[in-house]
Amino acid sequence: MSFSLKLGAVLAGLLGLAVILFTFERPPVETVQTGFRGVALGNIANPRLQTTLVAANQVPAPLPRVPSVGPRAGQVYQNVKVLGDLGVAEFARTMAALTAWVSPQQGCGYCHNTANMASDEVYTKVVSRRMLQMVARINAEWKPHVLETGVTCYTCHRGNPVPANVWSQDPGGRTAGFAANPGGQNLGAPAVGYSSLPYDPFTAYLDQADNIRVQSATALPAGDTQKVKDTEQTLGLMIHFSTSLGVNCTTCHNTRAFSDWEQSAPQRTNAWHGIRMVRDINHNFIEPLQPVWAANPNGPAGGPVRPRLGAAGDPLKVNCATCHQGVAKPLNGVSMIPDYPELARITNIEAPPPVRR
Ligand code: HEC
Ligand code: HEC
Ligand code: HEC
Ligand code: HEC
Repeated sequence: MSFSLKLGAVLAGLLGLAVILFTFERPPVETVQTGFRGVALGNIANPRLQTTLVAANQVPAPLPRVPSVGPRAGQVYQNVKVLGDLGVAEFARTMAALTAWVSPQQGCGYCHNTANMASDEVYTKVVSRRMLQMVARINAEWKPHVLETGVTCYTCHRGNPVPANVWSQDPGGRTAGFAANPGGQNLGAPAVGYSSLPYDPFTAYLDQADNIRVQSATALPAGDTQKVKDTEQTLGLMIHFSTSLGVNCTTCHNTRAFSDWEQSAPQRTNAWHGIRMVRDINHNFIEPLQPVWAANPNGPAGGPVRPRLGAAGDPLKVNCATCHQGVAKPLNGVSMIPDYPELARITNIEAPPPVRR
């Protein structure tokens, strides 16, 4: 063999090795059956990766509890609109918790003019008040999704002023391959697991309430006919579900009949409520705050250098990954509500009732 042939063989070998190393997951792999025998309903997971995920999703140690006694915060302070019925010590503890969950590096000053705590001049305080109402709404009205586990600021923020997993409208306009107009797809976007599916399934399904369907309700083309793009967009959203929860399609569906609810796992019903909950969060809480971020597009001083609005001028919104962060139950299903019951007790939520259809 000539030298160049030998070199070629070595290079081909190395390439093959690289393909194997970087394309496939290193074993072991465990399969857990979740449905009847023979229907292939099961979850495939790698215990090694699972251990890393469990470790990355631990709840922080709770602050020492204080009794809810003495005068109420609403009587003592000047400008308390949602936490008014907390005892003063309880209120101080809640402020310390908010700081630890949202702005541990920046401290109280991230939301306050520390010379005048009652002032609303720092916009993040106004945002936080709304977020308190949003958390209360999730805990009170979206029990079909969050059950008694509930959520706190930490579920999304994890010590970051802007949560790590957010989305905004993708204005598109880029070209892909040979297509003059890629039609919002074929760009291998992370949102849809680098598939060639439409890269913004969120605007239609987690902001607007378009039908998440592959099958049409009519036999012949009619008004509500599902288009190929609807199908692709639905699958894009499903890939987001799988990747953000770290589960397979079979956690929710019997893959012999994706649309049939009778044959689906209970998790699919849970996800159905989750979709409606996310629309409620985005519509009634995040989007109405757009003008507040528009006036402060780069955040307050001392915060992360990161735009607070997306490329289309819309705020950064919530999807399944914002809370789930790779696991089937956020924070491995551990509830922080027993330590912070005040976050489920707020009653003046100031939002139209949630839509569930
Ligand atoms: C993530 C934002 C945020 C952080 C950080 C934060 N606060 Fe607050 N704070 C608020 C909000 C929102 C209110 C108003 C609550 C309401 O309207 O019910 C408030 C109100 C207050 C008030 C009442 C002032 C008045 O007279 O009306 C005090 C006192 C206070 N905070 C102290 C603190 C202290 C001390 C820290 C730091 C340990 C802190 N806060 C950190 C958001 C925050
Ligand atoms: C369901 C997820 C979720 C929960 C729960 C949540 N937030 Fe947020 N929060 C967001 C998102 C998304 C943004 C980013 C919006 C943007 O920048 O356009 C945000 C932004 C903020 C900001 C603005 C940060 C900045 O620098 O502009 C503050 C302050 C904040 N949240 C406080 C809170 C507090 C306090 C709580 C708990 C009472 C809370 N959040 C609970 C999703 C959440
Ligand atoms: C966490 C649960 C969950 C996971 C995981 C999931 N799905 Fe879904 N899927 C749903 C829900 C809920 C709906 C219905 C949404 C609605 O009606 O609003 C749905 C709808 C669908 C539909 C449309 C059915 C119809 O009636 O036309 C298809 C197809 C589908 N999923 C395929 C998949 C595929 C493929 C995967 C894996 C990549 C997957 N799903 C992963 C929950 C899930
Ligand atoms: C505001 C935070 C939040 C968001 C956003 C969110 N979830 Fe959840 N989800 C939860 C909590 C909390 C639980 C745990 C409830 C429990 O204890 O079983 C949960 C549980 C689930 C479960 C049940 C898992 C199991 O093993 O039983 C499914 C399925 C699920 N979520 C799907 C979704 C989907 C799909 C989305 C996006 C459309 C979504 N979630 C968005 C908070 C959230």
